[in-house]
Amino acid sequence: MFMEGTIQEIKNKVDIATFIGSFISIKKTGRNYKALCPFHQEKTPSFVISPDRQIWHCFGACQDGGDVIKFLMKWENISFIEALRELADKFGIRLKDVRFEDQEWKRKEKIMRINKLTTDYYEYILHETKYGNTAQEYLRKRGLNEKVIKTFHLGYAPSSWHSLLKFLQKKFTLEDILTSGLVITSEKGTVYDRFRGRLIFPIKDARSNVIGFSGRLLEDKAKEAKYINTPETLLYHKRESLYAIDIAKDQIKKQNNVYIVEGEFDVLSPFQIGIGNIVAIKGSALTREQLMLLKRYTNKITLALDSDVAGEEAMKKGIEEAEDLEFDVDVVVFDYAKDPDEAARRDPTLFKKGIKDPIPFYDFIIQILVKKFPQDNPYNKKQIANTAVFFITKIKNPIVKSHYVKKLATLLDVSESSIESLLRLTNRKKERKFILSSQPKYSHMRREDIIQKYLLSLLFQSANPYKFVDEYFKLFSIEDFSLPSLKKLYHYFTDFRKSNKEFHLDYFIKTIPQELHPVFDEIYLMASLDNEFKNEKIEKLIYEIKRYSLKYRIAQILSSESSEKKETENSLRLMGKELTRVEKMIVAL
Ligand code: CTP
Ligand code: MN
Repeated sequence: MFMEGTIQEIKNKVDIATFIGSFISIKKTGRNYKALCPFHQEKTPSFVISPDRQIWHCFGACQDGGDVIKFLMKWENISFIEALRELADKFGIRLKDVRFEDQEWKRKEKIMRINKLTTDYYEYILHETKYGNTAQEYLRKRGLNEKVIKTFHLGYAPSSWHSLLKFLQKKFTLEDILTSGLVITSEKGTVYDRFRGRLIFPIKDARSNVIGFSGRLLEDKAKEAKYINTPETLLYHKRESLYAIDIAKDQIKKQNNVYIVEGEFDVLSPFQIGIGNIVAIKGSALTREQLMLLKRYTNKITLALDSDVAGEEAMKKGIEEAEDLEFDVDVVVFDYAKDPDEAARRDPTLFKKGIKDPIPFYDFIIQILVKKFPQDNPYNKKQIANTAVFFITKIKNPIVKSHYVKKLATLLDVSESSIESLLRLTNRKKERKFILSSQPKYSHMRREDIIQKYLLSLLFQSANPYKFVDEYFKLFSIEDFSLPSLKKLYHYFTDFRKSNKEFHLDYFIKTIPQELHPVFDEIYLMASLDNEFKNEKIEKLIYEIKRYSLKYRIAQILSSESSEKKETENSLRLMGKELTRVEKMIVAL
């Protein structure tokens, strides 16, 4: 079948470790690699990649894993088919028969094509027709040069109700055009262009697909919104989009920093004077989705917001998410202009200097508060402290946190302990919530199950699994496994041994029955991670399993009504005896 073939070809061609290693930093441990999981926040690695199996697995909060396609799906938040396409594209694999079953992808792809054509259309109107003249003039007035205008593919939507619609209808059905959000159906049922008489900014995703548009009036009118945007569509999600990310991403990565501004012009003017690592959130609050996207390229953000919104309120939500994702957050302020666009145009030199001289976000907050409550009296101090603590409490790093406790105490001329007690008060509610939500799934697993998996993982990772078994598993019988899947895997391993004098991992993997793949994959990767058993003696863990198993069997016998009374009594006695011995061994080891 077509799909199977392509998937196999991709897997053969793409080395999973190299591939994932191009997105996140990975570290070799034995035959595998480990890394901080990119799909959840963590401090110790629980993400493992196996080149032998060409798979990855997260043993932390995600408890998820898969092949290279699955990785890309999660990374880019795209469908299976999209990931398949991207990989095929990237590695030069031809998708011969494109009979995709994925309807959603088909629809998204259609919107992309409509958007691309629309970008070309508006761009053409701006540059090649007389209808674009006023917009050209406007752009000159705002100081943008031809190169920037072309780089960002700016365009102009003429003052017409149907010009785009008519143009698109030559190639697409009305039904498809409607899904793009570029046209609107009136109450009477007539369809007309959404963007009319507006300067057009195509909005792209990180892979340079045009996902939507933003349109600005050429002259401010009281009645109409200065900016309008594509509504939510299958492709355009405001929360996830960052204007200019496609162009800025390489620079962001290179400089390990991104300037976050509010509007399109605040991107374009700085870009024109050489600042390339800059994106816009388009006047809304910074979202977790946007931060997750940025996290792929950098762990530092620098806010360059308008001087009128002045951080505080606008940033309350954003900073929490940024802390959560462990970003360093700085702020640059331009007090000689209303926004970065104006600042960059009025004084490029001063702008470039200012942008290199940011202040940490928390200092910025304290500065604002001091300005807001300037008089030195206890009530103003309370106001400042309450708001500052609201932010300081979110700081994850204890050193940074302590720094600001001290700073705030000195500034207000109060004791550090009073700031700390305020912090505790603010924290109490939060902590309760945190405990509930931060339990990793692993802890729900029974200790004995984890130990068994860990032991098997050591076995398969060892240089000579047969020797490992002879050395450690003597005491152990197949009945001692508590999970059927482990039992099956171990059973398969013993069978394999009977017919294979030597153990070759590659061959073993090839012959494992399909239904055992998931359990083997999980186990095989597990030994690469640190876990609570890592420093314990293997023998001791074996005895522990034995103890669990004996206790379990004794409990079973006691709860069943056996007819063979004498026999059960006898075996109970034997088990009891062994249990005592095992307990002694555990203590001794
Ligand atoms: N915005 C929007 N919809 C609006 C108003 C604003 O999407 N109704 C977004 C735009 O991306 C805009 C940004 O928010 O660029 C900032 O808006 P605003 O502060 O009003 O921008 P100005 O600096 O006043 O606009 P301009 O620079 O274009 O004169
Ligand atoms: Mn502006």
